[in-house]
Amino acid sequence: MSEHPPIRTFHPRRGRMSTRHHDAHVALWPAYGITVTDGDREPLDLPDLFGRSAPVVLEIGFGMGDLTAAMAAAEPERDFLGVEVHTPGIGNLLALVGEAGLTNVRVAHGDAMQLVHRLAPGALDAVHVFFPDPWPKARHHKRRLISPGNVALLRDRLREGGRLHCATDWPDYAEAMRETLEADPALRHAANGRDGRPQTKFERRGTLAGRPITDLIYVRA
Ligand SMILES: C[S@@+](CC[C@H](N)C(=O)[O-])C[C@H]1O[C@@H](n2cnc3c(N)ncnc32)[C@H](O)[C@@H]1O
Repeated sequence: MSEHPPIRTFHPRRGRMSTRHHDAHVALWPAYGITVTDGDREPLDLPDLFGRSAPVVLEIGFGMGDLTAAMAAAEPERDFLGVEVHTPGIGNLLALVGEAGLTNVRVAHGDAMQLVHRLAPGALDAVHVFFPDPWPKARHHKRRLISPGNVALLRDRLREGGRLHCATDWPDYAEAMRETLEADPALRHAANGRDGRPQTKFERRGTLAGRPITDLIYVRA
């Protein structure tokens, strides 16, 4: 029996890559890049991917990757797996990784939830979902990334005590996120507030527009 096509949490869009992004892509994609294909369930072995056994942070929808690169530079003892669908963001993160000589970042291109399916239960130390697309219209709410089904899958891939850190600048999405996270039977509320999270580009936009920022941090029981 064939699976239903996944509900998209993003508009497919390809931007132009600058020469800097293109050069970084040519140089680093073979070693640091992962193509995520819909329906591919081939297990992804994280120690094999990073060449060592270290705690792994998954960042979903890293945008231009500034924060991923900054966190990876600040925490060389952890590995960072970023996943994004937006092509210029992929090129930019690869360029930042090359310029800073980071070895603890891998860059996945495609749908985050398709990637998460390929990870082993308990494989992740943390999941970061910072300023996911808000899909403000009610008829689009089903596209929001923080949904009960996605949260259950993300929680399954976290180790015991691993953290799911979500942030948004949309008050009604914040409320829906809180309800969804609270309803998950194996997540416990740990903290509110940035908790060391640097500011992101979309957060700055939200703050400039006068929207409040909500951070929600839950741990897997
Ligand atoms: C509003 S932006 C936030 C970017 C960044 N986290 C920040 O705070 O500046 C959301 C990003 O999530 C990406 N995205 C949405 N759904 C995704 C998915 N299923 N898999 C990977 N990336 C996704 C979008 O392409 C977009 O770049």
